[in-house]
Amino acid sequence: MDRTISLSRAARLVGTTRTEIQKKIQDGELMTFEGELRLSELLRVYPNTELEDNTMIEKVERLMKEAITKVPHDDGLPSAYTLHTRLKVITDELAQANADLYRYRTIIDQMHARMTEAESSGESISAVHTWFQRALNNPDIGTEYRKDIIARNHLLSLLAAHVRILPSGHDFFVDGADSLLEGGLKSGLALDYGCSNGNCGKCQARVLSGEVRQIKAYDYFLSEEEKEAGHILSCCYTPVTDVILETSEAHGAKDIPVQHIDARVKSIQALNDHITLLHLRTPRTRRLRFLAGQYANLSNSELEKTPISIASCPCDDMNIQFHVDMTQDTQLTHLVRNNSSIKDFRIDAPYGDFIMKEDSEHSDLLIAWGMGFAPIKSLAEHAMALDKAEDIHLYWFAKKGDHYLDNQCRAWEDALDNFHYHPIFLDEDEAFDAQQLEDLGSLRDYDIYISAPDARKTELKAYFESVGVPQGQIMSESTLGT
Ligand code: FES
Repeated sequence: MDRTISLSRAARLVGTTRTEIQKKIQDGELMTFEGELRLSELLRVYPNTELEDNTMIEKVERLMKEAITKVPHDDGLPSAYTLHTRLKVITDELAQANADLYRYRTIIDQMHARMTEAESSGESISAVHTWFQRALNNPDIGTEYRKDIIARNHLLSLLAAHVRILPSGHDFFVDGADSLLEGGLKSGLALDYGCSNGNCGKCQARVLSGEVRQIKAYDYFLSEEEKEAGHILSCCYTPVTDVILETSEAHGAKDIPVQHIDARVKSIQALNDHITLLHLRTPRTRRLRFLAGQYANLSNSELEKTPISIASCPCDDMNIQFHVDMTQDTQLTHLVRNNSSIKDFRIDAPYGDFIMKEDSEHSDLLIAWGMGFAPIKSLAEHAMALDKAEDIHLYWFAKKGDHYLDNQCRAWEDALDNFHYHPIFLDEDEAFDAQQLEDLGSLRDYDIYISAPDARKTELKAYFESVGVPQGQIMSESTLGT
């Protein structure tokens, strides 16, 4: 019963977020053991965990159906429904067997203590035997073993493999048939990679424990010695079991080379009457690796290189989004306005060091001023993908009607307990008013990210420094995107 599980697995098991679990650990409500949680400890804090939610079961069924349709048809193969039902029966039987084992081990431990006591007190063997019979018939012994929870844990292990990265200690889940690389990127990690397609070898990793399976052919040459030592390409393998992987990650902007990628226009869409979303899609084999908050230079035959902040999350490296301020009179706005004539852009990226501080334990204060929302959106999405325990406050200073993704910000706030959205409505050229931040408490407890026009950026930085926020906790960027 008292197995240990990762925090991510614990969150899935009791149907909460990793953030909530981490908060309970920080508050001393939950105790960890070597970075993991004992199952009994988890159930002590979440005693009412129920299995009413069938989402997981449905997901198993769907995944199995998908898997079956990919297997060449074989008349002898049971249906997905049959396989799912049998799997459920086996899982329940296994959980029951574990429950019996736990109960009998508990009785044996108690029996051992009882016999030791009898030896010193001279109690008769028949009295001990009577106690033993009663213990065997006592249904209350070992009831703290929750076989429903164990069965659920088994099903979770089937659904998504848990991956721990060394040396960083970061961890994530890989759902369905995603590659190890895809799973890591979706969880907001900056794993090293290049082509995502088995050609460059930059995603090479070493499997330290667990089993992986190749899901994609690759051209990159791995020697027999490397394969023997457990080396794989994380873009071409998926985990079969929980896995510990040795691989490298980017720790800053300098770790990611500038890439030159020809991307197609996927869509051009007005977000309000003066901001337009430019959505580019890279080729499957040439995706853009970047860190949240960075910017790109866009160009094509009709556009000189134009710097513009990336407004999307690095966890989706094929779909790159930009917010274009259509009130400006520039080559880019002309092109976007006559959108039927443009099909492609060259992306040179990534640039800039307006990026999230790695492994910081401070809460995040994200400040967007007007059009400065694009890189802040990228940072917010990245912070959410990381499932950080700390609070994330987003302050968006803009004129009425200019919070052009207000609904999205409100949806984030609704979905996440630790995300707080504060739209601030400005009059024309209104200055920054520090009172608007007074609910935050000590600003020294935050990493502060400011994206604003130059003058506002300087003003905001000066204010935060004046109230004692260390310079290393203030990151800032001038608005780009015209
Ligand atoms: S990212 Fe290039 S081989 Fe995997």
